[in-house]
Amino acid sequence: MTSTSKSGRVAGKRIAVIGAGSVGPGWGNGKAAAVLYAREGGRVLAVDRDKAAAEETVALIRSEGGTAESFVGDMTDPAAAQATISAANDHFGGLDILHFNVGISTRGGLEATSYEDWRKVFTVNLDAAFHITKAALPVLEKDGGGAIVFITTLAAHLNGPYPYVGYETSKAALSRLSKSIAAEYAARGVRSNTVVPGMIDTPHVLAHVATSTDAAAVAAARAAQVPMKRQGTGWDVAEAALFLASDAAGFITGTDLPVDGGMSILMGNASL
Ligand SMILES: NC(=O)c1ccc[n+]([C@@H]2O[C@H](COP(=O)([O-])OP(=O)(O)OC[C@H]3O[C@@H](n4cnc5c(N)ncnc54)[C@H](O)[C@@H]3O)[C@@H](O)[C@H]2O)c1
Repeated sequence: MTSTSKSGRVAGKRIAVIGAGSVGPGWGNGKAAAVLYAREGGRVLAVDRDKAAAEETVALIRSEGGTAESFVGDMTDPAAAQATISAANDHFGGLDILHFNVGISTRGGLEATSYEDWRKVFTVNLDAAFHITKAALPVLEKDGGGAIVFITTLAAHLNGPYPYVGYETSKAALSRLSKSIAAEYAARGVRSNTVVPGMIDTPHVLAHVATSTDAAAVAAARAAQVPMKRQGTGWDVAEAALFLASDAAGFITGTDLPVDGGMSILMGNASL
């Protein structure tokens, strides 16, 4: 399907959104990012291990007249990561922006965390990022440079209201991976940055973070901890990613951009 959009903040860019579906009904960070990129003129490869989730995002984009294709693959598999980049080549002839959204967590501090859970979280949050980034970088560079955006979390930088040590540590490593890529590729035209969400109201929270299934109670408790007294939305995270991915951020690389309603100030470190 051909986009009718000739303008927009990422007009004509070829964009792979990794984790472009949502684990539940509503707007997750990945789904909002995929739709926003398309609204801004991007051609989106919606990548997800869940076929229905990827196809739902593609259908949403096409229903608005945007351009999107789906690709089903689990990014913890290096061959699937490589196949994802081949799909971007096949559909769009290359890649300009890689947006890595996938991330899972298991709750608990060190004492409560099994090695199995630790490995599970690291495999998705960090190993998958390694696989897809390693597959994407030669194409990004060949196509004249591009941008990578990783979605991390405030918990990568600061201890929050509850511990989840595997999540915190893997996401901290993801932030460092982004900076290492930024340094290695700065003179080669590829930028790498992270978006650092705080409390965001998405289906992911009930699926992966909250211990209660009472959605209203969870939302109220999370909002109460934010200086702005509300949670963010997937759109808040998507807008920050769009900026970092776009040419408007052409001189910005290796940074971490909090989207947290002021929570990092409250937690005592605004500078990350
Ligand atoms: N919601 C919050 O409060 C919050 C806060 C901080 C950070 N985050 C981060 O936001 C991201 C999640 O955002 P979301 O709302 O889109 O979540 P989500 O859980 O709905 O994930 C989006 C998609 O990722 C897919 N996915 C998961 N593992 C995959 C894999 N190995 N390969 C391919 N696809 C995979 C899922 O199937 C899902 O459709 C995570 O990185 C999370 O750490 C969220």
